Amino acid sequence: MSEHTLVFDGIGKRFGEFKVLTDVTGSLAQGKVTAFIGPNGAGKTTLFQVLTGELRPDMGTVHWDGAEITGKSPADLARLGIGKLFQDVRVFRNMSVMDNVVAALCAMETSSWSFFDLVLLSRRSDLRDRAAHLIAQVGVDARLDALAKDLSFGNQKLLAFARLLAGNYRCVYLDEPIAGMSPAMAVRLAELIHHMVENDKMTVAIIEHEISFVEELADYVLVLSQGQVVGRGDAAEVLGNPVTREICLGL
Ligand SMILES: Nc1ncnc2c1ncn2[C@@H]1O[C@H](COP(=O)(O)OP(=O)(O)OP(=O)(O)O)[C@@H](O)[C@H]1O
Ligand SMILES: [Mg+2]
Repeated sequence: MSEHTLVFDGIGKRFGEFKVLTDVTGSLAQGKVTAFIGPNGAGKTTLFQVLTGELRPDMGTVHWDGAEITGKSPADLARLGIGKLFQDVRVFRNMSVMDNVVAALCAMETSSWSFFDLVLLSRRSDLRDRAAHLIAQVGVDARLDALAKDLSFGNQKLLAFARLLAGNYRCVYLDEPIAGMSPAMAVRLAELIHHMVENDKMTVAIIEHEISFVEELADYVLVLSQGQVVGRGDAAEVLGNPVTREICLGL
């Protein structure tokens, strides 16, 4: 790999007696897409939870730009430029499309949770213009004043993606970004991810079951099965391997 901005080494995690991850080692390269594939229950989401600070590993370390970040909270990691798109969509359901993205931009501007500070900030026209731009960029197909809960699942995911872009991160984790999206939305999202890596040199990690999407986007692939790495390398090579295809697709 070129530049290994994020390195995880010997990650182990148990839930009670159940070993979910065993000695999982790998890395993410800047300006590249690394895909994590494997059957249901392989431990992909759990690994992302460890890498994004939602879960503390029992064993192993995580380094970002050479500094150890193992066990840091998601808020700490967000400040370091690491963000995540969750497998279960997370938007403010009772807020409008516009205010969802404005809120994400406000969070970047201040660490104050004072109601008055936030109200003042959320009225700033530059933030509202930037929010409108991000919403148009990801192609959320809804009025800006529509409530998030009234959007289709696919549009809620695009809205969550706009909130992620508002975070201005250097490294993003995308857990099944296109699940539940229409084919047109998936194409739009693939274009956005391409743009993120080509233009902004972002580090992208993606979990995806849709192999054609992985083939189109990924530079590198890591295959997990029963909590262990069973394959890794260049995307074309790994995806062309009959053993990988059997593990991941049952082919
Ligand atoms: N909080 C938890 N407590 C106990 N077991 C858990 C917990 N979270 C996940 N697991 C178990 O750990 C295993 C790995 O789950 P994980 O969600 O990481 O898999 P995955 O590869 O993301 O699967 P999918 O492709 O279905 O999303 C599964 O057997 C799951 O049931
Ligand atoms: Mg998962």
